Amino acid sequence: MTRHPRPAVPRHVAIIMDGNGRWATARHLPRVSGHSRGIDAVRAAVEQAGRRGVEYLTLFAFSSENWRRPQDEVSTLMRLFVSALQKEVGKLKEQGVRLRVVGDRAAFDPALQRLIHEAEQATAGNARLHLTVCASYGGRWDLVQAVRSLLATSPDAAALAERLTEQQLAAHLGLAFAPDPDLLIRTGGEQRISNFLLWQCAYSELYFTHTLWPDFDAAAFDAALAWYATRERRFGQTSAQVAAPAAEELRA
Ligand code: FPP
Repeated sequence: MTRHPRPAVPRHVAIIMDGNGRWATARHLPRVSGHSRGIDAVRAAVEQAGRRGVEYLTLFAFSSENWRRPQDEVSTLMRLFVSALQKEVGKLKEQGVRLRVVGDRAAFDPALQRLIHEAEQATAGNARLHLTVCASYGGRWDLVQAVRSLLATSPDAAALAERLTEQQLAAHLGLAFAPDPDLLIRTGGEQRISNFLLWQCAYSELYFTHTLWPDFDAAAFDAALAWYATRERRFGQTSAQVAAPAAEELRA
């Protein structure tokens, strides 16, 4: 397969949704109202991704480290998660969206675990857009659980070490069903990965914007896609090397 150096639309967009708290604080509102508005922005991003032909959208909703936030903020985020699942699943189903939740699900309340399972089952037949919500997720957690899972299937660690390939390990990661993200967006002005998809973002284009997540609307999504369309993706090769197959395609 020829990897085109300037693909117009990313197949997979991943987003670190940051800035809910600051959005609320700037309006003298409690931080949690920023998270509520964040859900509206999630809906807008899902719709715009579908319209633009993005196949995979992966959202960082709650990190392994977010459990350390004040208890009332954690409880509110869990309640929002439950109500979003209850309210939105029907719409996701109609829109052809397949929902998955990736993360340490055992850490959630059993009722939330059940809702997640039901939502995944209800949308399992869809394939227009694969929406993945990373919750109780960390890139390091994912790597550790992948190694555990790999060792469970091949208990002879010494033999495994001899023949282990990148593909074999990647098959045990939470996002094994998806291609690596082409574009990683982080809202809220910080320029870091914060333990998101550490393995999968090795070659992702990184887009940082000062826009706070509740303000990240369809136009902001399009601006990120427009920036992505200007990027030359080299995957470790030189500019001349990646230009050559594209030029051959034009001549053919
Ligand atoms: C970061 O903003 C955002 C979060 C920790 C939570 C993101 C959650 C949502 C958008 C709602 C739930 C999503 C789904 C898919 C149901 P922050 O609080 O760190 O903001 P700050 O940096 O301004 O404090």
